[in-house]
This record gives sequence, structure tokens and C-alpha cells, in this order.
Amino acid sequence: MIYDEICEVLRHSELAVGYRLLVFEAPKLAAVLQPGQFIHVKVPTLEESALRRPFSVFDVDGTQVRVLYKTVGRGTRALNHVKVGEKIAVLGPLGKGFPPTCKGTALLVGGGYGVAPLYFLAHRLIESGHKKVILFEGGRTAADLLALDDFAALGVDVRIATNDGSNGTKGFVTMPLDVEIASLMAKKEPFELFTCGPDGLLKAVSERALTYGLPGWISIDRHMICGVGACYACIQKTVNGPARCCVDGPVFPARELVWD
Ligand code: FES
Repeated sequence: MIYDEICEVLRHSELAVGYRLLVFEAPKLAAVLQPGQFIHVKVPTLEESALRRPFSVFDVDGTQVRVLYKTVGRGTRALNHVKVGEKIAVLGPLGKGFPPTCKGTALLVGGGYGVAPLYFLAHRLIESGHKKVILFEGGRTAADLLALDDFAALGVDVRIATNDGSNGTKGFVTMPLDVEIASLMAKKEPFELFTCGPDGLLKAVSERALTYGLPGWISIDRHMICGVGACYACIQKTVNGPARCCVDGPVFPARELVWD
């Protein structure tokens, strides 16, 4: 069931430089949204003909939906002006999200605002009694790292890497990830990989899933226009042929993806 819900904005504030948190009341959507799915928001200050903009869901708390977004273009710049108390039209839930369960340790790997759906996933896994959730978050500098305190407050074990070494391991986030993979494999403990972020990171995590024969769940970020499978703007190559990220994804099993 897809809803088009008129939602009152409850909070809209800066989370970090260039990133904002939007919270709105959406009882219908909140009841059915799953981690990794996305929503399509009609930005009220854009002209009537403007299409909706896709956003992944950062969290669902009761009847409230939280969105963490980066200001990157005309749509998000217009969204910046939406004030508390205003109404926005939100369509969703859209797409296929992460699986609701995980065998063994959940290794979450995120970069940039790719951590948004991973937070929702961590929240749901921990809520359902899953004890072992580790987040590997990477950025160019410490200023790129988002929601670290939120993950820690959930009880997630957070491992960090920055390219300039300003926080955590100096280098790519795959460095602490590889250390943990080696440790879990040595102990013969099961684990699964979940990732969202830039393509380079998604490809690196996919390669590890395939190399070690692990379940890997990859959330692909592609430019979307219609959000409902009609325009073919969001194509990703897969072993089954071209797939539309908005309806066949955005989350795909690593074994299905084909990288250029
Ligand atoms: Fe139109 Fe996916 S955004 S088909």
C-alpha cells in the first residue's frame, strides 16, 4: 500500500554544515515504512509543475518520520525554507529496503548521508533484540561524519575512518571493516554486510561480500525522477539486466549487481 499523506512539519534544523534534519507527523507512513525504503516529498515552495524529490528515511519514531538530507540542488534548497507547522505531501513507502533480519553480526558501512537508512536499520535491528550491530562510518574529514552520537545512543559499536585522519583510522573505511571481517572469519562467526553511500564504497563492500561468500545488501543511490518505475532514469546494471532502483531497489543483493 502506498500512501500520499499530508504531513505537518514538527522540526526542521541544521544537523551539520550542509545537512538538515526534517521531522514530520505521518502516522500512515510511519506504520509501514521499512529501513532502506524511500519517500517522495512534494516541496511546497517549488512551482506546481515540479516533480517530487526522493529522500531516504533516517528514522521512524512512533508516528513521526525523520529525514536527514544534504542540500545539493534546487529541490533541497527549496526544502530548506519549509518551516515548522507547514504541511508537506509525502508519497511512500517506495522501493525495496533492507531485509528485516540479520544472521550474526550486522556490519553497517556508510559514507556521507548514506548513513541515514543505516540508522533506521540499526534502530529496527536493536529494537527486535539484535545485539551485535557495528557501524563503519567514513568521510574525508571529521566534519563529514554524521549522526555518530545517535548511533552510539542506540548501542551501536561505532568504528570511524577519515581520509585526513582527523577522526578514527586514517584512510578508507574499508580498513577497519577488513580488520573486523578477518576477526569474525577467524572466529567462524556469521555476519552480514549492509551499505549505503558513494558508488566507490558500495562497490568495495560488494566485492568483499562476493569474495567471502557473504550476504551483502547494497543500497544504490541513483538520480530519480518519477520514483515509481515509469521514467527509467534510475537504471542500475544487474545480472538479470537493467533494473530500476526506485522499484527493483534501492537495496539489491550484492550478488545481483554489475559494476562498470
Ligand atoms: Fe523513474 Fe526510477 S525514477 S523509473
